[in-house]
Amino acid sequence: MIDKSLEIDIEKIWGNLEIQKFEELDSTNSYVKSYLEKNKGCEILVIADTQTEGRGRSGRKFYSQLEHGLYFSIGFSVEDTAPEFLSLYTIAAASSLIQAIEKKLGLKIEVKWVNDLFYQGKKVAGILAEAITNQKTNKISSLVIGIGINLAGTFDDADPLTQKSAGTLYQVLPEEFELEPLITEFLRVFYTYHQNIENKSFLPVYEKHLLGIGQEVYYLRRDKKYRGRIEGINEQGQLLVKNNKNNIEILIADEIHFSSEQFVKEIGETNENL
Ligand code: BTN
Repeated sequence: MIDKSLEIDIEKIWGNLEIQKFEELDSTNSYVKSYLEKNKGCEILVIADTQTEGRGRSGRKFYSQLEHGLYFSIGFSVEDTAPEFLSLYTIAAASSLIQAIEKKLGLKIEVKWVNDLFYQGKKVAGILAEAITNQKTNKISSLVIGIGINLAGTFDDADPLTQKSAGTLYQVLPEEFELEPLITEFLRVFYTYHQNIENKSFLPVYEKHLLGIGQEVYYLRRDKKYRGRIEGINEQGQLLVKNNKNNIEILIADEIHFSSEQFVKEIGETNENL
């Protein structure tokens, strides 16, 4: 188990962010969501060694029992934010995590739209952004950004899809590995993006790391299967794909499921035929 006794000088990075640590939780996102319901206006970072009910997008499970896994969620309030900002926050979090991993661990990361980080052809991290919405105004009042990172370990008891598509940042966790610089850098970058979310300055970072540009992919929209070639993202962080009639389609994160499998590569393999 990694030493998670963080000594972050948090005040310099994120004013009043409260930090709580647990050996085990059902889901750090669920914990933070109910904490925010009871403690309105608070800002919190929750870290767990393992999760028994780790969740991914669209109700999928996220394997959270890795020997060296990092599972955390940040919760904070926002000022009456439109629902479209949820996916921009996912992209801001992904960009922050890419930047933190590349800078502090020196590993080259790619991102599979919209919320999966890949390293050496395998999914190594996932992001789940959830909103607490004011029912009267239909505006977001608080956000929970959950992140799971596979640092090292094996997926022996995971489901077959996870076994096929998931990977880790390290085969063996380096002895000198420290969590603190990684989390601190992530929080520093993410806080800046959050403060200036309207500027969307994370979009170029995200697009530079986008996986599969020019690749033909399958995706599901309301359980129907479609095919298209990835072109890039637009100003809303939506994915642009060219269909077989050469028209550009705009994919909205909430409506689309892309399987990670079609982006998986064994090291040294090209995956043009997947
Ligand atoms: C995905 O793969 O679709 C997103 C996975 C997000 C997993 C993280 S782990 C910490 C936080 N708590 C959860 O239950 N999920 C997120």
